Amino acid sequence: MSLPFNVAAHLSTSLRAAADQAGLAGRGFDPEVRVADPAHGDFQANGALAFAKREKLNPRALAQQVVDQLGALQASFDITLAGPGFINFRLKPAALLAWLQTHASEDQLRAGASAAHAGQTWVVDYSSPNTAKQMHVGHLRSAVIGEAICRLLAFTGAKVIRDNHLGDWGTQFGKLIYGYKRWVDEAALLSEPIEELERVYKLGHAATPDDSPELEEARRELVKLQSGDPQNVALWKKFSDVSLAAFQQIYDRLGIVFDHNLGESFYNDKVERIYRELAETGLAEVSEGALVVFHPEHPRYAKQPFLIRKADGASNYASTDLATALYRVEHFAADGIVVVTDFRQGDHFEQLFLTAKKWFAAKGYRVPELHHVTFGAVTGEDGKALKTRDGGVIKLKALLDEAEERAYALVSAKSPDLPEAERREIARAVGVGSVQYADLAQNRSSNYVFAWDKMLALDGNTAPYLLYAVTRVRSIFRKADLDPAAPPTTGASAPESAQELTLARKLVQFADAIQVAGTQLRPHFLCLYLFELAGAYSAFYAADKVIVDDPSVRARRLLLCHRTLLTLETGLRLLGLRTLERM
Ligand code: ARG
Repeated sequence: MSLPFNVAAHLSTSLRAAADQAGLAGRGFDPEVRVADPAHGDFQANGALAFAKREKLNPRALAQQVVDQLGALQASFDITLAGPGFINFRLKPAALLAWLQTHASEDQLRAGASAAHAGQTWVVDYSSPNTAKQMHVGHLRSAVIGEAICRLLAFTGAKVIRDNHLGDWGTQFGKLIYGYKRWVDEAALLSEPIEELERVYKLGHAATPDDSPELEEARRELVKLQSGDPQNVALWKKFSDVSLAAFQQIYDRLGIVFDHNLGESFYNDKVERIYRELAETGLAEVSEGALVVFHPEHPRYAKQPFLIRKADGASNYASTDLATALYRVEHFAADGIVVVTDFRQGDHFEQLFLTAKKWFAAKGYRVPELHHVTFGAVTGEDGKALKTRDGGVIKLKALLDEAEERAYALVSAKSPDLPEAERREIARAVGVGSVQYADLAQNRSSNYVFAWDKMLALDGNTAPYLLYAVTRVRSIFRKADLDPAAPPTTGASAPESAQELTLARKLVQFADAIQVAGTQLRPHFLCLYLFELAGAYSAFYAADKVIVDDPSVRARRLLLCHRTLLTLETGLRLLGLRTLERM
């Protein structure tokens, strides 16, 4: 009688069949079953209400009619009617036990979750900083949120292609080359490459005011680069290489490995086709010399055009992104494309996606799901943009170093007896994990206040709290000298105490958290779930002793401990965190 991984989805399927049998098929009965407020049950269906209202029927009688068809579910659920026609489902203890027994490893959880995106290919464009410039906190947010989304998509069945869409092309390279040729300090380029490139760019910019012969010279450098002059191309290549090497140090600390770094330059020779096809399909028109796309049906974009080629014939961010979308569809056969940037690029991506959908449909290309995953600004506790004291860009390396230092101080205060090397190791996981988790734990659409004390707190919805919860479960196995990967759980009886039952129910809901976070591309749903799970575990641990004499009670409590550990570790890894044995 074991149930599949996603119990809510299973119930929805059963309800759909029951509605069919009750003769409601094709009349718009909503069979959706959702996780319920625990006061009412584990799951709830409310489709009878809207349907009865529309068809002028008695909702309770209608709900009863559906329930009468659900006989097969009675073995696993207590099914009750409530209020005007809600159908509530509560898992019986034996069904909870059976579910926990079947879903026993990360592979089994993944197999269960994979239905959501099985067989699909998703391209995720994230971090995507500009070369020859420091990555800023926005690129860090994009990296952290993007990586969590990649892992969620992969866990829910997708083949994921991680693409770092570097900003490595544009007019700024004329001034950069101009400055570089005159003022570069080779030693500084080795020790602090990006800082040095920023410095010579600033010098180049200052030395080439509008209408000056120096600006003409910088333009010539740009034209030489664009027409393949070997010296300038080699310089440009060097800018990309040193930038990427510097970015990679941050990615390493975050556990990010890109499959591709297909920057804007890669699409340089692919924009002509874009102009041609958009003109051919009648989507683009020439306006004041520029090529633009209007969307007559849209309240704003009917008047505000999407500029895809400048009047001087040059390509821009939009032309490149259109070529990028096409490449992802043709070359990667993407079913879904996700781009992660801050909310300020909202208009650009809305116009881009509207244009791409019409264009792909007109040409008969595959039309993928297109998602702009946005996030709010990062501010300090004063509400202002996060900057250094003198108003400069925060260096991400310094930020992650500070996180580790602070975590090291906390660990050393809490566990002074652990060897120094282990405390350092813990500090690395807790420090970086805290920054990642703080970024993920709140709805990404809101602005985000960067506050050290809050993100490093041992209680609350934080990385230290969850990482500590993991070590607490691990310590039970360590103290009892049991293998945490496979503790003895045979002969377990069904959960019985209030705390055991609450914990078991929470474990079953992992499927739902993954489903929601993975399809809405919002990792905070998973964070909140893990936080609640850790709370349920704490309550269980405080109330019920695990290592007791009664073999069936001990086995079921070890089972609960093991599945809690499995779920917490799987969930935290999906968010990009590393978990620990102790801390
Ligand atoms: N380089 C851009 C920036 O730093 C982000 C690029 C995002 N991806 C894209 N396909 N436009 O803001």
